[in-house]
Amino acid sequence: MITRPKGTYDIYGEDAKYYNYIKGVFTSISELYNYNYIRIPIFEDSSLFHRSVGEASDIVTKETYDFKDRGDRDLTLRPEGTAGVVRAYIENKMYGDVNQPIKLYYEGTMYRYEKPQTGRYRELTQFGVEALGSDDPMQDAEVISLAYRAMEEMGLENITVKINSLGDKESRDNYREALKKHIEPYLNDLCSDCQNRFKTNPLRILDCKVDKEHEALKTAPKISDYLNEESRERFKKVLEYLTYLDIDYEVDDNLVRGLDYYEHTVFEIVADMEELGNANTVGAGGRYNNLVEDLEGPATPCVGFACGIDRLIIILKELNKDRDIMSGIDVYITAVNEEEKLRALTLAQDLRLSEVKCEIDTLNRTLKAQFKQADRLKARILILLNSEDLKKGIITVKDNLTHEETKVDENEILDYIISNI
Ligand code: HAM
Repeated sequence: MITRPKGTYDIYGEDAKYYNYIKGVFTSISELYNYNYIRIPIFEDSSLFHRSVGEASDIVTKETYDFKDRGDRDLTLRPEGTAGVVRAYIENKMYGDVNQPIKLYYEGTMYRYEKPQTGRYRELTQFGVEALGSDDPMQDAEVISLAYRAMEEMGLENITVKINSLGDKESRDNYREALKKHIEPYLNDLCSDCQNRFKTNPLRILDCKVDKEHEALKTAPKISDYLNEESRERFKKVLEYLTYLDIDYEVDDNLVRGLDYYEHTVFEIVADMEELGNANTVGAGGRYNNLVEDLEGPATPCVGFACGIDRLIIILKELNKDRDIMSGIDVYITAVNEEEKLRALTLAQDLRLSEVKCEIDTLNRTLKAQFKQADRLKARILILLNSEDLKKGIITVKDNLTHEETKVDENEILDYIISNI
């Protein structure tokens, strides 16, 4: 038997219900916030991710799925959506659109060669939004509130927005120097990843899972002390707007994020749920004001977020573990002989065109087995077709809860069903 590749899973049954539900909530909230849908390719030129997510980031050094196609092109399965959206923004010259800022949302699978565990997969699904063209701190607050409200709408409890500011380039350069000076004496004591990060991206040492309790990290200088006036003011504004929007946040000095393109606001939405261990970050994002320019587009300030649908499925399943979320159908039509089956087929089509969810038998079951199947599908109403009735232009309808039977004129069957479900 061929089995699924490590780190992937099949979404079906209850998971699929949650998957569609989560996607539906994010889509309708994004539309309400006036974001428009964009579909970007699952694979892109490898250099896109090297130049955006970052040559030194864990995602690019250890986790990408790189391959050559038959035309010898270097391609990579997307590990995230922001880089592709920015590429599409530049390539399609969206910066020239009269409607600014450009606000986009997307959903789809991403690929990261991670060590699989609960909530951490190699094929993962994200829902994300990107607002391109506004530098206003209000845009940061809007993006965070969209993510937060969507999760609230899903009934998530105990979620916290962790937020920090990485400041502008000047602030980060000053801080990087101070941090390096502080870390250097401890360097041999830190894990090999941190030793590499020291050379390539020292800020990432701050969110090392291995060394997080180490003296060097605990006594490290804080980025907030290195923000210049402008960056500090900007961050203050974002927090002020979040307070106005009634969003619970926690400033986390150690939050630096694993992707290289961020500056100013960075945030993570964290769920308090033991089962997820350190895979409890359900959504994350931030501002990336230099990425469009780095990818050879015009200077464009941007902010966005993405959340992990797979993790949200785990959380919603746990929250609803005592509830049966598999909804029943409206109508099951029983039919045994050819004449009845033909009528069942056309009647089912008419009902479906009237938005009634119904099912017919396509396994040639006995009548008794069809009744059983109707119960399994939790049918609200049964339509019991029989040749005798049909000759008289009558259809028998049975309420599957009260078991009451009614004879209905065939011409009135649609109206009858619609008014009784
Ligand atoms: P990220 O933090 O790498 O950010 O991923 C966002 C979310 O995707 C995470 O918070 C998590 O919920 C989910 N996720 C990440 N890796 C996995 C995994 N292996 N298995 C399951 N879920 C996972 C980004 O991707 C940025 N593009 C976010 C962004 C958008 N920043 C600005 N705009």
